Amino acid sequence: MQDGRTTLSKFLIDTLDRRPSPHAGAGLSALLIDVAAAIKQISSALTRGALGGHYGSAQTFNTNGDEQKKLDVVTNEIFVQHCEWDGLLAAMVSEEMDDVHPVPDKYARGDYLLAFDPLDGSSNIDVNGVVGSIFSVLRRPDGMAEPCGEAAFLRPGHVQVAAGYAIYGPSTMLVLSVGNGTHAFTLERDVGNFVLTHTDIRIPDDTCEFAINASNERFWEPPVRRYVQECKDGRIGCRERDFNMRWIASMVAEVHRILMRGGVFMYPRDFRTSGLEGRLRLLYEANPMSFLVEQAGGLSITGRERVLDVVPRALHCRVPVILGSRNEVERIGRYHREHERGEDKPYTSPLFNERSLFLPEASA
Ligand code: AHG
Ligand code: MN
Ligand code: MN
Repeated sequence: MQDGRTTLSKFLIDTLDRRPSPHAGAGLSALLIDVAAAIKQISSALTRGALGGHYGSAQTFNTNGDEQKKLDVVTNEIFVQHCEWDGLLAAMVSEEMDDVHPVPDKYARGDYLLAFDPLDGSSNIDVNGVVGSIFSVLRRPDGMAEPCGEAAFLRPGHVQVAAGYAIYGPSTMLVLSVGNGTHAFTLERDVGNFVLTHTDIRIPDDTCEFAINASNERFWEPPVRRYVQECKDGRIGCRERDFNMRWIASMVAEVHRILMRGGVFMYPRDFRTSGLEGRLRLLYEANPMSFLVEQAGGLSITGRERVLDVVPRALHCRVPVILGSRNEVERIGRYHREHERGEDKPYTSPLFNERSLFLPEASA
């Protein structure tokens, strides 16, 4: 481009249309442009805040049992309207729709499937906090009869051909991977373009930051308790360094921070939930975020296996998620394996170990 900037369209044409990837196929760039158009419209609606008339509850519940905010419903509609008409999609799945939404008969159907969380972190809306949208693109399985039903979506996340999220913060950004690294675009509002600002993001292997909803501690399994306790013990504990904790209550905001500077995010198995599956939904939260994190050199596991290898049991099934900086996620995976083998080390409070502040040599 003349000014040296790479817009989202240029990036997609260069990446997908001029050098087609074997698994993506034609039309993916056009589909992602439509997703980006939905994101721009959502960004505009969110910027109006309370003036937009969309604050508060819709007085309805989605299939996960969560109370829907008005903006959950509005943003879902924006995604559907922007993406169902273009002849590229066969069907959609959303956090805010109970069943598969096949592309209506009045439109042509294509080869792609879209799963999305139109508004992530929606408890942050009414307090003007950071929220996001998350999406995942699959290709329709070869030979599957029209219209696509649930079975088309119930495949492990490693078959995704694209995944991304939008973060609606002080600036709106689109973070995307089509399988060749994770890249971020910033919305230039007055022009309406997404401009490439972060190429080939790499998550540092090490970190001193973790994010978890600590109010759930009593429901965690021993390996997660052990990890978090060791982080909290800081430099006088076995980790021998201090950690910081963060919790924004929006997976998008947490993953974005981790992509920008490293860290670990956990929504682990949880004794509150039936089947111990944690809180996050596999198809439109865990899978796309795990794809982006792996493409940036990080790891994403349930504790026991790679998230992207989990075969979904249902459209809205949940899965435990532990993702981020490679060495920390590997450590947490090891703690799970040690626990399964009954090899947990008994916890010793750092107040009583050799580095204790209470011992004369440490306090000197
Ligand atoms: P959503 O707003 O789409 O329902 O997702 C919220 C999710 C996730 O983004 C976040 O990490 C988590 O739920 C927040 O959980 P807590 O309510 O436990 O903070
Ligand atoms: Mn969500
Ligand atoms: Mn949501």
